Amino acid sequence: MAKSKTQSNVLPMSEVFHPGIETYKQVYNESLEKPDAFWEKQAQVLDWFQKWDKVLDESEAPFYKWFPNGKINASYNALDRHVNRNRRNKAAFIWISENDEEKIVTYDGLYLRVNNFAKSLKDLGIKKGDRIIIYLPMILEAPVAMLAAARIGAVFSFVFAGFGAGALAERMNDSKAKLVITADGFQRGGKMVKLKDIVDEALVQVSSVESVVVVRRGRNDIQMQEGRDIWWHDIVSRKQIYVEPEWMDANDPLYILYTSGTTGKPKGAVHGNGGYSVWVANTMKWAFNPQEDDRWWCAADIGWVTGHSYIVFAPLFLGLTSIMYEGAITYPGPDRMWELIERYRVNLLYTSPTAIRTLMRYGEKYPEMHDLSSLRVLGTVGEPINPAAWKWYYDIIGKSNSPIIDTYWQTETGGFMIAPPLGLGLPPLKPGSGTFPMPGVDPVILDENGIEVAPGEKGFIAYKRPWPGMFMTLNNDPERFKRTYFEKFNGMYYCGDYAIKDNDGYFWLLGRADEVLNISGHRLGTIEIEDALIASHEVAEAAVFGRPDKVKGEVIVAFIVVKDQYEQDGEIVGKLRKKIRADLGPIYVPEEIHVVKGLPKTRSGKIMRRVVKAVALNEVPGDISTLENSASVEEIKDAIEGFRREASN
Ligand code: WTA
Repeated sequence: MAKSKTQSNVLPMSEVFHPGIETYKQVYNESLEKPDAFWEKQAQVLDWFQKWDKVLDESEAPFYKWFPNGKINASYNALDRHVNRNRRNKAAFIWISENDEEKIVTYDGLYLRVNNFAKSLKDLGIKKGDRIIIYLPMILEAPVAMLAAARIGAVFSFVFAGFGAGALAERMNDSKAKLVITADGFQRGGKMVKLKDIVDEALVQVSSVESVVVVRRGRNDIQMQEGRDIWWHDIVSRKQIYVEPEWMDANDPLYILYTSGTTGKPKGAVHGNGGYSVWVANTMKWAFNPQEDDRWWCAADIGWVTGHSYIVFAPLFLGLTSIMYEGAITYPGPDRMWELIERYRVNLLYTSPTAIRTLMRYGEKYPEMHDLSSLRVLGTVGEPINPAAWKWYYDIIGKSNSPIIDTYWQTETGGFMIAPPLGLGLPPLKPGSGTFPMPGVDPVILDENGIEVAPGEKGFIAYKRPWPGMFMTLNNDPERFKRTYFEKFNGMYYCGDYAIKDNDGYFWLLGRADEVLNISGHRLGTIEIEDALIASHEVAEAAVFGRPDKVKGEVIVAFIVVKDQYEQDGEIVGKLRKKIRADLGPIYVPEEIHVVKGLPKTRSGKIMRRVVKAVALNEVPGDISTLENSASVEEIKDAIEGFRREASN
């Protein structure tokens, strides 16, 4: 496989930031050599009600059990212990909306809200083990609902507020949710998103849901269904109520988060209470080295795993103060992010390469309008960061004073897997490399046959041993869990990324090796979009793939064949766009939809997506000896050329 071209790009930052990586090396080696003793110690970052029987039970691998029989509660660790100690009046969240409303909630205030909502959930009949859906924008009720569920042992599944009714219904059905928490609507980029209407549409396809709790946020008109829908403010008491936190087993589920894979059906990754909590708290310390009085801003949406782990759980476990921002980072202007950093004296910023590239396009004048001197550490997540964006972030935003913490991880991994270990000693950074594995993480780069490749060669990244934050299973589908992640490389964990380990031992994450797309750092399934297209009665066949894009990393391109009777329909592309937006959500809408007469297929009738993509991207399509209809290749070329001509006019 190809050699990496990016390896010589070294900045001598160890001199600037840290004396060296000796501590990291020592801690890392200890984590692999004496894992039991190591994790025994690390687990003490949290308070446990009862100690575990052993650190790791591998008897039913790959269904690993960390800290079995240990009893813990995530809400207790996020709140009670801070309130009981000296953080009662410390801000947990400083929340700001797009229109500059501001709310500061202290640990005590959050504790009060969580207890009160936990009581409301109990009053609605929610018990330990019940599943609830949270479909909320970036408002304080989101972490309150998550922590209240965790407090009483209900398993929540957060659905990103950008998903459409079809995607929402699918998640409600798969999780067999009894209750949904949503809002009437919210503003994004100045526009109203009518969340409750989407819930109503989804519920037509769902039978398990008994109640819908609605937060008043958008103040838009909505329908409240008698006996099912209740306002949040009508059921939450203003008095101080105490709800005893459930003693959860370390391996009882905390939440289910759906993510895209290589089939049309999203996978419900199940995270547990114990190992996951230990993992997010420790990885945050190791990668970002946060200090007591720091202000942390994770600019992700709470509905994705980044928000779960690093807006809600890790920062609260560590007793930090977070900025929580409800809105677009370019609204009302391209300096929004820089303005908020200045106003709130943010110390640690964590965002995505797409956000950096988007803001970079507006030029330096916007960050230069603001005092960014409070920033000390800059993080990124979600997709590979190209060296140009890395350098802009480092030079212009960090004024060459703040290390870039490029964190590589996945929904399934719970927390960071590969990231510069600032808290343990920072190695010299190389723009575009996440540097080294976190303690306990044992990665290897393999070829198709599972043989380790030489340094500098591209291969599949896999992990030789489990780590505490690893998801426990897929909801309703343990077989798929085993098959998808552990079969390809003989029991090692594999989840679809290419990587290189260079001669200095640095890891370079190169993106997906499978049919999963990464659009602006959002993980979407090719087949999900193809299925949605084919589900509309006009479309006979569809092939979807990602085209590289300078800002978003990738954008979605679809080639479709329309059924004969709709061939003359000039509105078809617009209709399909609308349908995908309503069903899956706006992020799924293809940038380009090309209508063609046929798609390249094998003789057995399978669409050759690989060939469509190669031809459309002007690449060599590889082996096409099994191709049945070569005329379609010419048609794809013509369609793309026509599109380019139009775009350049
Ligand atoms: C990609 C997001 C390169 C990768 C936390 C992975 C990255 C997928 C990075 C997971 C990074 C995430 N460098 N690629 N720093 N971080 N990815 O589950 O392809 O939404 O498999 O979790 O994003 O996306 P997910």
